[in-house]
Amino acid sequence: MNFGRRLRGEWLLDPAITYLNHGTVGATPRRVLEAQRAIQDEVERQPSRFLLRELAAVSSGNPGGGRPRMRVAADAVGAFVQADGNDLVFVDNATTGANAVLRGFPFAPGDEVLVSDLGYGGVTNAAVYAARERGAAVRTVVLEPPFSAGAIADAFERAVGPRTRVAIVDHITADTALLLPLAEIAARLRRLGVAVLADGAHAPGSVALDVPSLGCDWYTANLHKWALVPRSSGFLWTSPERQATTHAPVISWGLDQGYTTEFDLVGTRDPSAHLAAPAAFAFIEELGGLPAMHAYMHELAWTGARLLAERWGTPLETPRDLLGPMVTVMAPADAGSTAEDASRLRDRLLFDDQIEVKVHACRGRVYLRVSAQVYNELADFEQLADAVARRC
Ligand SMILES: Cc1ncc(COP(=O)(O)O)c(C=O)c1O
Repeated sequence: MNFGRRLRGEWLLDPAITYLNHGTVGATPRRVLEAQRAIQDEVERQPSRFLLRELAAVSSGNPGGGRPRMRVAADAVGAFVQADGNDLVFVDNATTGANAVLRGFPFAPGDEVLVSDLGYGGVTNAAVYAARERGAAVRTVVLEPPFSAGAIADAFERAVGPRTRVAIVDHITADTALLLPLAEIAARLRRLGVAVLADGAHAPGSVALDVPSLGCDWYTANLHKWALVPRSSGFLWTSPERQATTHAPVISWGLDQGYTTEFDLVGTRDPSAHLAAPAAFAFIEELGGLPAMHAYMHELAWTGARLLAERWGTPLETPRDLLGPMVTVMAPADAGSTAEDASRLRDRLLFDDQIEVKVHACRGRVYLRVSAQVYNELADFEQLADAVARRC
């Protein structure tokens, strides 16, 4: 299947809007939503049977045979990220996965958790809270341009102190959209005795992913962004040696029955997003498969980024080897310098130019983070380049 705007009809996205913000909360294809709806209909035919007998290993009454539905879906997600499904549990989103790990981590008073200044604010807050509850501290590694894989790995390693117990490392950073050298960082940190929690919120579906080979202790991620699974669907992968001490964020009937059983049933909720993951993966195959999608998205992000930086006369801070499916480009100086300036530009682009894109301020400049999904094409970047140039 050819990529670009001709694919837009596969999504419900408003055709009047140029959508360059896929990375923020994802966008689910029509066909995957239909599959989710079919699962919800199946639940509604016999709700108690589906949710109490068939969903998880803890069931009330005879489950009627067969592998629990959550485990079948976890096996499919495992295959998608080259992991064993038994090492992987569902969570609502990456924030929940990070909270589960951090709030259960056995910090002693004086211990430290290492975060980066490019980390996602909500997850960093979870680290602040977990540390505060146990008398631990948060140490922050500063990552600044010029960005390079080597400099970033060095900065993480240098930031480790004698009491650093765990580090949060983004696979793809939020505002700056940098694909970090996660395997290299994890290897160096673990050599120093620091456990690694990877935040892969943007990685599944957007970059080639072999989770166990990255060498982390935990890897939490979203499926509802680039893997095209309905919201809210995230997962937490835990290395086998950490599973006995990793607990669900909400404790329910699965307590003391093992890692997967504890996470598979956390009270009554709608499991249809998680269970629709195989339908999303089938749609990805129909689109041409992950390697073709990755090649298209990364090329579009790179070509589009150069186009924007050239039109706006600003430096491109992302080297190609740190580029994923999104790119962050500095706006012209006239765009201003503050969060209010960024917010004003974001509103004008949406309400006057019908372009949805993420705009933020950082280090005294305004930046745009532009997503290159398979339904985007260079014409979308050209439209954005013109709109910003007109306003600045
Ligand atoms: C790096 C990173 N981590 C975590 C998140 C949070 O994702 P969610 O709100 O789905 O938990 C985001 C959201 O964009 C992100 O960019």
